[in-house]
Amino acid sequence: MPTSTKDIIQELKRVKLEAQKDLSRAEDQASLQRLKGKYLGRQGILTELLRAMGTFPPSERPIIGRTINLLKEEITQEINTRWETLKRRRHEKELYAEKLDLTLPGRRPLLGHTHPLTQVLEEIVDIFTGLGFQIADGPEVELDYYNFEALNIPKDHPARDMQDTFYISDDMVLRTHTSPVQIRTMEKQRPPLRIIAPGKAYRCDADINHSPMFHQVEGLMVDRDVTFADLKGTIAIFIQQMFSKDTRLRFRPSFFPFTEPSAEVDIQCVICKGIGCRVCSQTGWLEILGSGMVDPAVYSFVNYDPEEFTGFAFGLGIERIAMLKYGIDDIRLFFENDLRFLSQF
Ligand code: FA5
Ligand code: MG
Repeated sequence: MPTSTKDIIQELKRVKLEAQKDLSRAEDQASLQRLKGKYLGRQGILTELLRAMGTFPPSERPIIGRTINLLKEEITQEINTRWETLKRRRHEKELYAEKLDLTLPGRRPLLGHTHPLTQVLEEIVDIFTGLGFQIADGPEVELDYYNFEALNIPKDHPARDMQDTFYISDDMVLRTHTSPVQIRTMEKQRPPLRIIAPGKAYRCDADINHSPMFHQVEGLMVDRDVTFADLKGTIAIFIQQMFSKDTRLRFRPSFFPFTEPSAEVDIQCVICKGIGCRVCSQTGWLEILGSGMVDPAVYSFVNYDPEEFTGFAFGLGIERIAMLKYGIDDIRLFFENDLRFLSQF
């Protein structure tokens, strides 16, 4: 402890310098708190010096006391200033960390587009509307009557086994094909009639070529003097526009209860060009649709006179066409909605 007034004044000068140095080094609130204790606290340097004042002659105490108090105020003031500086710096640092760089390029949202099946469907619709066909529609939950009965497939007819049906009730099904729209349209309209009916169909069936839900496009033309040649010409134009001018096709005799005669249409395999490969099971041909001349028995359900009118009908699978067009070998890819697949179209 200083023993003379001169000493104590000297000491206060030293303390002042030390405090300034300490404060300029304090980098956070905790160290400031510590320094406050060191200089101004109960055991603090200045408090100790004030206590020591008692050992000095009374005449000198006021000047010493004033000097100490002055220094106390100065240090308090400097601590506060330092505190504000630190607070401002921290704030600036936070602001900097949150800084937005407006010159950075934005994140591009993924751009969506129509599903490949929708694209193929739209293409098919374009071709047929170009040939004068109009769009018709029907329900997916369908009466047994429209899905089977009126298409000349009575109950217990073996032809029902051709299509594994999801039954809703005894007389209600998920339509197994778009052919019921034929009946619904003929019930409402008289010939001449030229319609296509795109939509969903359902069968209890699943493998790489079959899906429980799939899409068909039904076609129907009824008028006076419609012949098998009109069917062939219409299908040929469709195939050539859908694939290419030189795509070969063949009509293969087949059976459907609602057409007579019936034919399935094959196109030359688009993968191997008819040489034979895995996709066409080495035959060189791929089936793409069922068709035929509307069976007179069907006309009796809609009160058309089979002596006056003839017509043709066809039904094609949209997934099948899309698979051939894009060389896809698993139908399930269409329904998994994996963007790596979908973004290729
Ligand atoms: C029919 O569904 C007939 N209604 C087609 C028809 C209409 C014939 C008008 C005559 C007159 P088929 O069961 O063959 O026929 O089916 C037609 C096409 O639907 C098939 O060639 C196939 O491409 C597609 N298809 C059938 N079942 C499935 C399935 N589970 N998954 C995907 N496509 C299917
Ligand atoms: Mg078939």
